[in-house]
Amino acid sequence: MRVLVIYAHPSADSFAAALHQAVVAGLRHGGHEVDDCDLYAEGFDPVLSAAERLAYNTADPDLTGVAEHVVRLRAAEALVLCFPTWWYGMPAILKGYFDRVWAQSVAFRLPEGGGAILPALTNIRKFWVVTTYGSPWWLIRLVLRDPVRAVLLGGLARLCGSGVATRFLALYNIDAASRARTAAFLAKVERAFARF
Ligand SMILES: Cc1cc2nc3c(=O)[nH]c(=O)nc-3n(C[C@H](O)[C@H](O)[C@H](O)COP(=O)(O)O)c2cc1C
Repeated sequence: MRVLVIYAHPSADSFAAALHQAVVAGLRHGGHEVDDCDLYAEGFDPVLSAAERLAYNTADPDLTGVAEHVVRLRAAEALVLCFPTWWYGMPAILKGYFDRVWAQSVAFRLPEGGGAILPALTNIRKFWVVTTYGSPWWLIRLVLRDPVRAVLLGGLARLCGSGVATRFLALYNIDAASRARTAAFLAKVERAFARF
């Protein structure tokens, strides 16, 4: 498959960077074609401009600043997101990627006369997420009701159509994790992506 990997972390020596490497290595090992998008390294500007906002709900959204990303997204057969959880959500650079690139006519269509938005990314058949948390699993899942998973798999993945296959790989309580636990998660991620 042609897999678009969207990676968001500013530091090359982070655990997210190691996960990113494991994702890409696993996919290539499995024979997939990888379009590796490192948002920080590519200098992605996450700020939706006034002109983009003005055209957002129109039939002709302003995609001039993100045209290359639109081409990459439309060419993808699968999507992988790799990032650390910050403030119970995505890092701002990744959130801005969705704000600017997942526009009307690219990711969704507004039906005439109102109603639920319609998926436009039916080219994407798999949507996988790899993330890490400082918090323990019970705080994220039982107290906060899993906001990252809900937004990504319950919200954004729906724009890929009803047949999309999703998977959420998460490591919790990372700051207190032993070397063995982080190494085991890294190995799990690489194995999962080799069988993607
Ligand atoms: C700006 C910022 C916000 C964070 N917010 C959260 C949070 O809301 N929930 C959480 O569990 N961890 C939070 N963390 C902890 C990160 O998830 C944790 O540091 C990260 O997963 C470690 O991965 P890394 O070594 O690749 O950076 C935050 C960290 C930073 C830097």
